[in-house]
Amino acid sequence: MHHAWSNMKTEINRRSFVKNGIAAAGAATAGVGLLANGSSLLAEQEPEEHSSRLTRGDAALLRFAAAAEILETDFWVQYNELCGIPDSEVPGGTGNPAFTAALSVLDADMAQYVQDNTDDEFTHQNFLNAYLTSKRADPVNLEPFRTLSGSTATGSSGKLRLTNLMELTLDTSWWTRYRSSTHNPDLDPTFTFPQAIPTLAVGKHTAIPRTDADTSDPNFLQAIANTAGFHFPTIEQGGNSLYPSMAQRADSVEVLRILISIGPTETMHFQTWSDKAGNAPPLTAVDPVTGVSVTFPDLNSSPFGGENFQTNLIMPEPCPFLSRKLPPCSIIRPTETRGIAMGVVNFLTAMGLFIGQSPAFFALMRDLAEDADQARRG
Ligand SMILES: [Fe+2]
Ligand SMILES: [Fe+2]
Repeated sequence: MHHAWSNMKTEINRRSFVKNGIAAAGAATAGVGLLANGSSLLAEQEPEEHSSRLTRGDAALLRFAAAAEILETDFWVQYNELCGIPDSEVPGGTGNPAFTAALSVLDADMAQYVQDNTDDEFTHQNFLNAYLTSKRADPVNLEPFRTLSGSTATGSSGKLRLTNLMELTLDTSWWTRYRSSTHNPDLDPTFTFPQAIPTLAVGKHTAIPRTDADTSDPNFLQAIANTAGFHFPTIEQGGNSLYPSMAQRADSVEVLRILISIGPTETMHFQTWSDKAGNAPPLTAVDPVTGVSVTFPDLNSSPFGGENFQTNLIMPEPCPFLSRKLPPCSIIRPTETRGIAMGVVNFLTAMGLFIGQSPAFFALMRDLAEDADQARRG
């Protein structure tokens, strides 16, 4: 398959050689030479400590992170256009007043938080690619896959998208995973954590108004806003696990520093959103287009409620960590490093975020994940 993120033919060839284990050293050297000649200006501007090359594993870890951040940026931009604050800091779209108002039912500051989260993802994506480039490694470019039509509702820029927010199936078991004091997915891989919103885990749900018709029924519009309110933490808890999981296999201390410095901002996103999701007003609505029903229960009363569901329990409950012989510990979980990148690709795919994407897109994502999962320390 082809590596569409690279504009450098020499780098594609080098990478193919490396992957096939043929003449890796010679091909890599040739690639460096050609690239360096073509970017002498960049070379002059590089600080001395940035001149050494990344290991293949470190580059693969950062490339997978960059791809994930590009995808995050793409859907956060869609949210910012419709329910954030479109302005010069995060350009695109003009806002959808009805959807913004429905989302503000969860918290009056939702629009500001949406904009800040969007801004953060842009910088994650830009930084990771710039760092890769500064180390003469391939950056990630997903622009050839910007082919999906997004929302046509008031406020949308109407530009083509990488991700699909209109057919989501959400696994909201993170809600109980972070409230459980007895189970950790790393120690109990077969344990099923209950869903916070069981109906979001089946069928396809839109998290944005697809058209202006979606904003006409206030109850359905609130259901869309509630769905967005649960999509935000569902996504961000993924990043919350991805970075510490990948960091365990970083080779250079600087790459480790990048991963453990970006990761906790995903955690800050996650906790903010998990707090706000708890404010989603209880309701049941049927999608007038698909006929799919969704119910947001009162998570504070029976059969919900208690340690597993109470909405203000937003700090991670201490749970078993590494071994049940050790005392419980308040931690991010899971952080198992094996297969983490492919796990994230599968998680996002199952969510429906890529519905409509081409086979080449999935092949590229699997390839990036496979390379990241092969990275080893030392
Ligand atoms: Fe991010
Ligand atoms: Fe994020």
